[in-house]
Amino acid sequence: MTARIAVLGDTNQDFVMRAERMPRPGETLVGSDLKFAPGGKGANQAVTAARVGAHVTFVGGVGDDLFGPQLLANLEREGIDTSFATRDPEAHTGAAFIALSPSGENSILCCMGANLAVSPAQVEGARAAIADAEMLLVQLGVPLESVLRAMEIAGQVGTRVLFDPAPVCGSLDAMWPHTTIATPNETEAEAIIGTPVTDLASAAAAARWFRERCVEIAVIKLGAQGALVLDDDGARLVRGYTVDVVDTTGAGDAFAGALGARLAEGAPVEEALAFANAAGAMAASRFGAQPSLPRRDEVEALMAEQEAKDRVVSL
Ligand code: RIB
Repeated sequence: MTARIAVLGDTNQDFVMRAERMPRPGETLVGSDLKFAPGGKGANQAVTAARVGAHVTFVGGVGDDLFGPQLLANLEREGIDTSFATRDPEAHTGAAFIALSPSGENSILCCMGANLAVSPAQVEGARAAIADAEMLLVQLGVPLESVLRAMEIAGQVGTRVLFDPAPVCGSLDAMWPHTTIATPNETEAEAIIGTPVTDLASAAAAARWFRERCVEIAVIKLGAQGALVLDDDGARLVRGYTVDVVDTTGAGDAFAGALGARLAEGAPVEEALAFANAAGAMAASRFGAQPSLPRRDEVEALMAEQEAKDRVVSL
């Protein structure tokens, strides 16, 4: 059965360059390898879910400028339904300026533009798409009140919600009771709960924090190490896959899109997490956000190549 996914989120034009280091205040540095790539956390998650086989509807907004129509056309080429996405004549398309360190880590500066015009009323207009989906994917690249509205609708119509709380901003307290699956990384978990998340013990404590706020499946992404999950079956580490890292941009989005799609198909949590780890690793092994997002056969090939009996460890 094809899983049905609705994604509410941001769409950006990414401008990516390599840099030896970040400039200091007042300093001009010369970068290299400038590339333009479609991005935005919401759009990246939508593309991943589509590439691994889900039917995806995207709710978001772009400007009516040079970039917006191209970004929507990209999504449509992936087979994504964009009929609930808007073109705003008053705002510029979201833009992200991304500097890549020699080790492939990224530093991102975003101008959200038309993403900020995605209103609760627009989300309400997409109620049918949310109701039609098995899973709603949300992040924080569009206004908080719109994310909350989508979560409330999902609760009313019985659609599960995967909440990837990035970029962390504002008070998220009202959102946890509407969240089925939360997927922060260590930095995001730390910013949300207010205590350092540096190892498995502190990640498990962070996962408990989310569970105490009614999140059914609390996942803490641990980069190359994999993901820690806490649900009714207890805490487990689902180990990651080993790749040569080229560019980590979009790896977290690949994880969320793949996890949402596999859970919507009815896969068991640990299996879906292993798949999401492999999708994230594949994205980190290639350049750019959407150009790096893997297809299902690529994810399954990496999983088969690195099959391991101890992939899941009970904690
Ligand atoms: O998560 C990666 C994304 O973050 C990039 O594509 C960029 O647009 C920023 O929103």
